[in-house]
Amino acid sequence: APVKVTKICCIGAGYVGGPTCAVIALKCPHITVTIVDLNQARVDAWNSPDFKLPIYEPGLEEVVREARGRNLFFSTDVDKGILEADLIFVSVNTPTKKSGVGAGFAADLNYVELATRRIAQVATSSKIVVEKSTVPCRTAESMRTILEANSKPNCHFDILSNPEFLAEGTAITDLFAPDRVLIGSLQTPEGISACASLTEVYANWVPKDRILNVGLWSSELSKLAANAMLAQRISSINALSAICEATGANIDEVAHAIGYDTRIGPKFLKASVGFGGSCFQKDILNLVYLSESLHLPEVAAYWRQVVEMNEHQKRRFSKRVVDTMFNTITGKRIAVLGFAFKADTGDTRESAAITLIRDFQSEKAYVNVYDPQVVEEQIWTDLAEASPLVPEEQIKKQVRICKSAMEACKDAEAVVIATEWKEFNEINWEEVYQSMNKPAFVFDGRLLVDAEKLRNIGFKVVTIGRP
Ligand code: NAD
Ligand code: UGA
Repeated sequence: APVKVTKICCIGAGYVGGPTCAVIALKCPHITVTIVDLNQARVDAWNSPDFKLPIYEPGLEEVVREARGRNLFFSTDVDKGILEADLIFVSVNTPTKKSGVGAGFAADLNYVELATRRIAQVATSSKIVVEKSTVPCRTAESMRTILEANSKPNCHFDILSNPEFLAEGTAITDLFAPDRVLIGSLQTPEGISACASLTEVYANWVPKDRILNVGLWSSELSKLAANAMLAQRISSINALSAICEATGANIDEVAHAIGYDTRIGPKFLKASVGFGGSCFQKDILNLVYLSESLHLPEVAAYWRQVVEMNEHQKRRFSKRVVDTMFNTITGKRIAVLGFAFKADTGDTRESAAITLIRDFQSEKAYVNVYDPQVVEEQIWTDLAEASPLVPEEQIKKQVRICKSAMEACKDAEAVVIATEWKEFNEINWEEVYQSMNKPAFVFDGRLLVDAEKLRNIGFKVVTIGRP
């Protein structure tokens, strides 16, 4: 019979491991969930008495308030977590490799491997090991080889793939009511039994018909495929936005019209200044690398174009700002509203705002930035990384971090909306207009504001996907 899971350990207390396993703890009071991480500061933040959690995610605090100390624990004691658990999630980071073979494309599997080796070294009883991180196809095989080569006698390991599909900003609602939970296993009696154990955990709140059981390799590839197809939709709509700008068509109307086709569907068709986030680009590059390795250059080129279109969209937007402002922004002050890669998160990884600000800096503009959630230190780190050749003092001379949208817009010549925070729609635009230099421009990179309303106030408004 399948093992009944009573103790779960999650290695990696990041954007995925934290929310995912906190929700498992909330929904399964009979299971003890311990989330471990090597990063002391991160674990301390998860344990902070006043719930100053390391990530901002709507609804997360309530979940942690209810479960923490009851059956949810955060710790840096990785070994103890491993020893006690019957099921271990590996939810560590898998960034794009920066050097060596496959640099710039392949996933860096070092963290996955280190966590796997630790499990093999420490475990004294059998475990179900679950790949939660997004990994290249067939990583589970490497994990199994490492575990089997290093395990103690009488320790048996079953490997499952259980990729995560949550989106940041909606992680908690996504986890409460997932479209599907995907579990991949070897189609052997042991594999199927391990799969049943994990299925039982999710079945505490997810309807059984939404829990899909497939083979290991399909599961791993489905995660890359889902992200690639989602990103491809955005690159497609962004490619069309360029045609709209040149022809007089309106991208919102086009998206609406095509989205009515039930085969296409209305979601994820919002033109933007380009997609960001830690995963889309990384996972597509990973797929490109996989395709190249399999000697499928046409397939690789096809997916690579999704990322190239995204880069093009960002460049195109920066250029439109410069072109519109009489071909120069030198010495001009530009207010950038939003720094996170999307609304309702403090995450800035691969955020389009970083590229825009770097472009404005290189045109010698002054930039005021405001974001409701991103911490100041993060902005400085991201901007320094984006311009490695520019001295830090120079960056700090050109960029100012502001405490409100109003402060950022004061005395500016242009406002650039880089993130679709709801509060940017609710600012007093009349007051903003009064405080700005004229002509006052608004560049809406997120189709967020009512352009007609702003034009009536006096703004010159430029919107993605409209002439
Ligand atoms: P993250 O960087 O926020 O978190 C990873 C954590 O793992 C870090 O805190 C790090 O200290 C810890 N860690 C690394 N090696 C460790 C080790 N050997 N032992 C203990 N702790 C270790 O990353 P994330 O955003 O949570 O992403 C994790 C994985 O999930 C990635 O593979 C990513 O592709 C995937 N994913 C992310 C999202 C998302 O929205 N961010 C969604 C779905 C899937
Ligand atoms: C994405 C996927 O949506 C998740 O299913 C997946 O689990 C996750 O990647 C992952 O593997 O990390 P996430 O990156 O958190 O989630 O957020 P999205 O909502 O997908 O947005 C990604 C980027 O695309 C953002 O910059 C967003 O502003 C942009 N976007 C999204 C658009 O420009 N237009 C849209 O219509 C939708």
